Amino acid sequence: MEGSDDSSVGGDHTTLNRATYDRIAEQYAQHQNQPRPPSEDLFTSFEGSFFDKIPTDGVIADLGCGPAFDGARFAARGFRVIGLDLSAGMLSLAAERLPGRVIQGDLRTLPLVSGQLDAIWNVASLLHVGEHDTMAVLGEFRRVLRTGGTLALITALGDGDRFEKVPYAQDEQRWFVYRSEDRLLDQVTNSGFQIELREQIQGNRLWSTILASVT
Ligand SMILES: C[S@@+](CC[C@H](N)C(=O)[O-])C[C@H]1O[C@@H](n2cnc3c(N)ncnc32)[C@H](O)[C@@H]1O
Repeated sequence: MEGSDDSSVGGDHTTLNRATYDRIAEQYAQHQNQPRPPSEDLFTSFEGSFFDKIPTDGVIADLGCGPAFDGARFAARGFRVIGLDLSAGMLSLAAERLPGRVIQGDLRTLPLVSGQLDAIWNVASLLHVGEHDTMAVLGEFRRVLRTGGTLALITALGDGDRFEKVPYAQDEQRWFVYRSEDRLLDQVTNSGFQIELREQIQGNRLWSTILASVT
């Protein structure tokens, strides 16, 4: 596993979330890996639209990959996949199933070379980043994508931020940040992207799914 030092991490809530994910990584992976009926696969159609935008041997970074179930699925289709996450516990699970690089890093200061990616898959991790850091994250996404590259972003909609209990891990909590879709769409556009698809999908949270390309 490649590493980044703590200076890129900063912020108590982020540090707490990272420690929580280190402790609950196995439980998270088990929870995510439970068989579900196709009706509960909320993002299948979105994922298909994402694949349509990427060259067959393209490089995708699964940013905030967790155990990298998504990234492993992309690698099985022939894409070259990089997994990146803040939590070493999560990354050790990701390394078991990703054939490519796994990197410890923060969405706000990506340890990746500019313009190296065909696509970014960023699912359910911006919801752990403070609103004040949104533009920093989107700016990093823009920096590491090539011209014409694709961003797939899924995050939770709503108001404010709060700690919430982890339903499948006793005595554990994570900090969540809920966003306004209108504001997020403006932020994506102002970061140098053109929005190609946007949809709200209701699951255990109200999800915003955004597909955008570098202008
Ligand atoms: C809810 S999990 C989602 C994992 C995976 N994308 C999925 O859909 O299963 C959130 C992940 O985001 C990671 N994360 C949280 N804040 C992060 C940050 N600032 N930079 C990188 N990863 C972060 C956590 O460690 C965790 O693995």
